[in-house]
Amino acid sequence: MNVIENCPMKGRNTFGIEVSADTLMEFSSENELHNCLSVSKHPVMVIGSGSNLLFMGDYHGTILHSAIKGIDVIEDTREYVLVRVGSGMIWDDFAAYCADMGWWGAENLTAVPGEVGASAVQNIGAYGVEVCDIISEVRAMSVSGGSIRTFACGECGYGYRTSIFKSDLKGQYVVTSVVYRLKKQASPKLEYGALRQTVGRMGGVSLHNIRAAVRQIRESKLPDPAVLGNAGSFFINPVISDSHYREIMSRYSDVPSYPSDGDMCKVPAGWLIEKCGWKGRSLGSAAVHDRQALVLVNKGGATGHDIKALADAIIADVRDRFGIELKTEVNYIS
Ligand code: EPU
Repeated sequence: MNVIENCPMKGRNTFGIEVSADTLMEFSSENELHNCLSVSKHPVMVIGSGSNLLFMGDYHGTILHSAIKGIDVIEDTREYVLVRVGSGMIWDDFAAYCADMGWWGAENLTAVPGEVGASAVQNIGAYGVEVCDIISEVRAMSVSGGSIRTFACGECGYGYRTSIFKSDLKGQYVVTSVVYRLKKQASPKLEYGALRQTVGRMGGVSLHNIRAAVRQIRESKLPDPAVLGNAGSFFINPVISDSHYREIMSRYSDVPSYPSDGDMCKVPAGWLIEKCGWKGRSLGSAAVHDRQALVLVNKGGATGHDIKALADAIIADVRDRFGIELKTEVNYIS
């Protein structure tokens, strides 16, 4: 196991915030994780690639990071394959591997930043697919007792960008591996209009064309964290009642929506933020991305408080204009 005291975190969070952590421990096996948990100073926090968090200052405690790698096929049939993947594997490396193997299910989630463990905690989603669609089970170690528990997909409490690991069991388990179920027969999901069109232009439906199309769409809207610090969508798309939606529609006939459960509907936060005039605007070193208003960026040298000040100003404006309380997808770490 790798232990770093006073660990600089700038390269370990995609916003590029310059803070340090008292201790960072990296584990390569469940045994090593067990040892880490028995000696770590509290509070304890687990991070993946740091692509969904915002440090508000130095972290006084222990940060755990999984370096458990490996892809093991545990069941292989004519229709599907079950594959166990270490939580420290880069998500997109696994998605690329699936495409190379001819396994369907992960291709729409191409280039989502982060690691396998975080994919299962966060229920990553893009272009009509959520990772819970392909998760079979999640293996995790309890932070308090060090025991291993296997969660079947149905026990993980999956919903839009959420899971039991972010709600009822928050901070209580460290994911060590995830079992995914991928299909061997072609099963493209092309409901997202721009994806269907882009794949069409590439000459036909294949795993590699879908991956290339997703990459192209993402690059046209989302900034590369290696160039401009950001954490993807900063806010979750809000779910509002149909009557609230109709009221907004009476003022803005172009308001888009996604279907949701019951008499509710989901509205793109990026549209709400753009309508409030924030797209491309800055507040100090923090800015709203000029091609996707859902993404806040660090123009250089921003602190967590600079980014939060911008987020708070946006939340207040959206509340005043639309009566909607935006919630952050990014976690504030203080
Ligand atoms: N829109 C605007 N202005 C903007 C951005 C969006 O008007 O600045 C409107 C447009 O009408 C657009 C609609 O919002 O058609 C939807 O935009 P987009 O397709 O870019 O999707 P999104 O709802 O903004 C969500 C996810 C993204 C994911 C895309 C594609 C959330 C919080 N975000 O964004 O996920 O890539 O759908 O499936 O659900 C992420 O989680 O980090 C992420 C990037």
